[in-house]
Amino acid sequence: MSTRSKEFSQLAKECEKDLRDLVNLPDNYAVLWTQSGAFLQFTSVPFNIGGSRENTATYVETGHWSMEAAKEARKFINVAPAWKPQQEEYLFTLPETEELNIHKDSKYVYYCDNETVHGVEYHTPIVTEGVPVVCDMTSSYLTKPIDWDRVDVAISSAQKNLGPSGITSLIVNKDLLGRKRDDTPIMCDWETQHNCGGFYNTPNVFALYLCGLTLKHLKKFGLEFYDDLAKQRSKLIYDVFDSSNGFYKNKVNPKHRSRINCQFTLKSKEEDDKFLKAADEAGFLFLYGHDKYGGCRVNMYNAMPLEGAEKLRNFMKQYQDEQERL
Ligand SMILES: Cc1ncc(COP(=O)(O)O)c(C=O)c1O
Repeated sequence: MSTRSKEFSQLAKECEKDLRDLVNLPDNYAVLWTQSGAFLQFTSVPFNIGGSRENTATYVETGHWSMEAAKEARKFINVAPAWKPQQEEYLFTLPETEELNIHKDSKYVYYCDNETVHGVEYHTPIVTEGVPVVCDMTSSYLTKPIDWDRVDVAISSAQKNLGPSGITSLIVNKDLLGRKRDDTPIMCDWETQHNCGGFYNTPNVFALYLCGLTLKHLKKFGLEFYDDLAKQRSKLIYDVFDSSNGFYKNKVNPKHRSRINCQFTLKSKEEDDKFLKAADEAGFLFLYGHDKYGGCRVNMYNAMPLEGAEKLRNFMKQYQDEQERL
């Protein structure tokens, strides 16, 4: 299909409409589809809304992905930390709005809604007074309604709940377009992409087509349904941890437990490995944690039915019983 064809522009139009309907997006927000994942947007944010290299932006570092974003941003702007966690605390809890220290000259505040690796999630968005908010929603996108009064830029790599990897949904408050630095690389340039209908270079047509199918499916149920489903699924798993007398350990502050990524460890790395092997043999695949941090993790995106979580719950209980009988 030619990307200049009317078929493609119809596809793009429908995707945008379905996305707008699904997330209830106000008209003053632009919808862009970009490539190179959320990572390219880690670079793009300071170029588009940070202004000059001497300016400052506040980053709420709460785990792996916000730390990656801040690390990249530091190349292009001064990064002010929003809170000072106790050692390693950031891995298990989140600062509430009142605990945040937003730099007085901050060009924007950046945070991650759901830390996929560390399993912490903001259940109510952070609030700032008059400072644009950039939110990485990659792993919680389309799993709950979004409060657009609290978010100016939403970055979401598609591969969790929207479509295949290689396409990213980027939503930008149009008031922020026009603030870019002169040396903004073209593929990072939101304003130019917006001005040419959302696509500057050859788009990933097939990925967009798949996103379109997913959006139509999600629209049949709505985001409240997926929020409820995520809560039910994750409760099943957290209940296993909480009733296991420490056999399965999850250190996340219960207030901030992710509905999507439930991370845990057993008594030792050897016990983690033994559990993972048994789970794999029983057909429960990919329960290992992130390469860098180890442990185990249950990732449950929109496509996971409640029955999937129930089966895993039963397996985990049975595994504990068997191990304790040895
Ligand atoms: C919360 C979050 N942000 C950013 C990323 C990076 O996305 P990508 O690899 O598509 O750039 C991921 C990947 O899983 C993620 O979970």
